[in-house]
Amino acid sequence: ARPIIIDCDPGHDDAIAILLALANPERLRVLGITTVGGNQVLEKITDNALKLLSFVDADIPVAMGAKGPLLGKLVTGAEAHGESGMDGPVLPPSKFRPVRQGAVEFMVERIRSSDRPVTLVPIGPLTNVAMLLAAYPDVKEKIERISLMGGGLAYGNVTAAAEFNIYVDPEAARIVFESGIPIAMSGLDVTDKAMIYEEEIAELKRRGKVSVMVGELLDFYSIYSRKLGFDGSSLHDPCAVAWLLQPELFESKAYCVTVETKGERTRGMTVADMRRKPGDAPNAHVLLDVDRDAFIRLLFDALERLDRQ
Ligand code: BDR
Ligand code: CA
Repeated sequence: ARPIIIDCDPGHDDAIAILLALANPERLRVLGITTVGGNQVLEKITDNALKLLSFVDADIPVAMGAKGPLLGKLVTGAEAHGESGMDGPVLPPSKFRPVRQGAVEFMVERIRSSDRPVTLVPIGPLTNVAMLLAAYPDVKEKIERISLMGGGLAYGNVTAAAEFNIYVDPEAARIVFESGIPIAMSGLDVTDKAMIYEEEIAELKRRGKVSVMVGELLDFYSIYSRKLGFDGSSLHDPCAVAWLLQPELFESKAYCVTVETKGERTRGMTVADMRRKPGDAPNAHVLLDVDRDAFIRLLFDALERLDRQ
């Protein structure tokens, strides 16, 4: 199985992405989970990660990372994710604790000691990953690729131009996009097509324990989606995992993507060079479309597997 580290800020859709990975151990081996301040403050989202793992009885190391972005103050996503960062289901306290190592040290150690190059799956702000690459550039060689959720070529969600994960830490995102490591970018272009609808959420709530919990997560999460005017809820973060499992469900194009850090209205925007003769070689596969029905099936099957455990 392909070794991965999930760097996240759970986060409703982060939680679902983690479950999707855990349900596919024959293809993905989750070496650990690292947390980063994003949807909520670090303590809260780390606690959410631990509770989630405890709920599905997955004893996987969790390492705490950056509290906030490289520059400036943390902007949270409390409006979408609530006071706890993962409002909705009431999960019992976790039987697990975070490891002593910080996220960056944890990642270096696991990447260096891995028998195979590791794939990073960042689904929160890119602070931890940027710190890793800046402090230990030698690990780049042992990172197979980065499958991240962030950005959007057509539009943003925090501002007209910027998507949340990039907006929270544009400097970090820039370091990651300029790192030379192959990137698969699940931005809003694809994630807003990876929607789950109300009848599907209702179906989840008729199933087993893990599916029901995910249904409850989505009940809360969909309140904000409706406020934004969507007729379903975008499963942003699960796209970054689903692409590793079944890339054939997605359409993508290779572009050179850079991150705007200075713009008056565009700070945190991902800019793809779409010219016929781009200035630089592509650094990213940008996911643009998904077979939504097959994607939902992949997710439902994964949750069903966890229900049976
Ligand atoms: C991203 O921002 C967060 O709110 C979600 O967890 C996702 O990672 C979507 O813009
Ligand atoms: Ca996230």
